[in-house]
Amino acid sequence: MQATISAASELLKKYDVPGPRYTSYPTIVYWDDNPTVEDWTASVAQALDETERVAGGAGLYIHIPFCRSLCTYCGCNTRITRHTEASKPYVETVLKEWSLYRRKLERQHPIPLTEIHLGGGTPTFLPPDELAQLIEGILSHALLTPDAEFSIEADPRTTTKEQLLMLARLGFRRLSLGIQDFDARVQDIVNRIQTEEQVRAVTMEARAAGFTSINYDLIYGLPFQTLKSVEQTIEAVRRLRPDRIAFYAYAHVPWIKPGQRRFTEMDLPSGEEKRALYELGRALLEEAGYREIGMDHFALETDSLWRASAEGTLHRNFMGYITRQSAPLIGLGVSSISDSWSVFTQNEKKLEDYVARIKRDELPIFRGHQLTKEDRILRRHILNLMTRFETSWESRELYVPFLETVNERLAEMRRDGLVKLSDKRCEVTADGRPFLRNVCMAFDARLVRKVPATQIFSRTI
Ligand SMILES: C[S@@+](CC[C@H](N)C(=O)[O-])C[C@H]1O[C@@H](n2cnc3c(N)ncnc32)[C@H](O)[C@@H]1O
Ligand code: SF4
Repeated sequence: MQATISAASELLKKYDVPGPRYTSYPTIVYWDDNPTVEDWTASVAQALDETERVAGGAGLYIHIPFCRSLCTYCGCNTRITRHTEASKPYVETVLKEWSLYRRKLERQHPIPLTEIHLGGGTPTFLPPDELAQLIEGILSHALLTPDAEFSIEADPRTTTKEQLLMLARLGFRRLSLGIQDFDARVQDIVNRIQTEEQVRAVTMEARAAGFTSINYDLIYGLPFQTLKSVEQTIEAVRRLRPDRIAFYAYAHVPWIKPGQRRFTEMDLPSGEEKRALYELGRALLEEAGYREIGMDHFALETDSLWRASAEGTLHRNFMGYITRQSAPLIGLGVSSISDSWSVFTQNEKKLEDYVARIKRDELPIFRGHQLTKEDRILRRHILNLMTRFETSWESRELYVPFLETVNERLAEMRRDGLVKLSDKRCEVTADGRPFLRNVCMAFDARLVRKVPATQIFSRTI
C-alpha cells in the first residue's frame, strides 16, 4: 500500500508541469494566422450554410463582464463595479454588435440559432428588464431550431426570483451557479461569502421557475482547502442535489490575474495535496450518484450531459463540456471567443476598446487564427481524448505526419501505465485520467515545436 501511494505521488510530481487546458486547439497563445474581417465573416457564412443544410443553427455566446465584487481566485474577464447603470449601455452595444454581424453576413433570412449561453463575469448583474431587452433583441433577428437550448451562469449572491422567472419566460432552462466552496475560512480568503441557505433558495426558486438542469461550479486547490473542508462542501452539494457539477482545478496565474496575490503560494495545497482533494471529491460525488465526464465534470444519469457522454456526442469548447457542437459559435461582448470551425477570433479584451470599435461600426475582433489542415486534425485528436479518453488515426482523414512521433513522446507515460498505445491508437487508462492534459500535450504540435519561454499556462495537476 505504502509503495503504491509513493508511486502515485512520484507520478504527480513528475507530470505537474505548466500546460494548456485545451478548451481550444490551437491554444490562444499559438494563434498566428490572423484572419481579415472578410475572411472571418466568409467563414461564418459558410458554416451557417452548412449547418442550415442539416437543419442546425449557430451557437451564441454572450459575455457579460460585470461583477459586484472580485473573488480573488477569479481567472475570468471581469469588470468590478457597484454601478448598476453600467449594464444598460452595454446591452445596447451587444445588440449593435449582433446587428453588425447580420449586416456583414448579408443574409436574406434570420440567423438560425440552436443555443444561447450567457456567461461572464456575472450575467445576473443585469436586472430582469435588461435580460429581456437583450434576449428579445437577439431573437427578433433569429430563428430558433426546435431543439434550441438557453443557458446562463449566475451568482447565487445576486440572483433574484424575479430574474429567474424572467429567464424562464425567455426560454432559459439551464442554470449554472458559481459555488466554489462552502467552507467559511476558504470563502473569506477568496472574498466570496455565501451560505448554503442562499444557494438552496436560488436552487429551489430556479426549479420552481422551470429550470430543468442546474449546475454547480466548484473549485479544488483553493487557499486553505483541506480534505475536511472538501468533504463538507460535497456534503452540502449532496443535500442540494444539482444535476451537474463542474469540479474545476484551481488555475493559479497571478502574473495575469493580480487578484490572486491576495494569498500566497504557501496558502495553496501542493500538487499532491491538490490531487487528493480531487480524488476525495470524486469518490464522494460518485457515491452520491454522479458520474465523471471528461475532465473535472460530473452529472447525474438523468442529465443530458451524461447521456451525451454515454452516446459519444460530448463536445468541449471555450465554455467547457457541452452536449453537442454548434458551428459556428459566435461570441458577442467584450473578450468573447468565436469559432467557425475553420477560423477562431477573439473580441477586444478591454471594455472601452470593445465599445469604441462597435461605435465605429466595426466587428470588434482583435485577434484570431485560421486553422491549418494539421491544426484541424490535431484538434480532433485532442477533442477525442478530452471527451472519450481515446483517439486513433487509422483513417487517412485523421492522419498527419506529426503523429508518427506521438508514441515516442508518450513512451514514458506508457511505461508509467498512464496510456495504452498501439500503432495508430492511444487510450488513456484509469490511472492516466489525472494526466489527461499531459497526454494531450503529446498531440500538440505547436507546443512541441515551441515551448513558451516564460510561464503562460497553469500547472496540469
Ligand atoms: C464566470 S464564473 C461563474 C458565474 C459567476 N460569476 C459566479 O462566480 O458565480 C465561471 C466559473 O469559473 C470558475 N473559475 C473562475 N476562476 C477560476 C480559476 N482561477 N480556476 C478555476 N476555475 C475558475 C469558477 O468556478 C466560476 O464559477
Ligand atoms: S468568480 Fe464570478 S463573481 Fe467572482 S469575480 Fe469571477 S466572474 Fe465575478
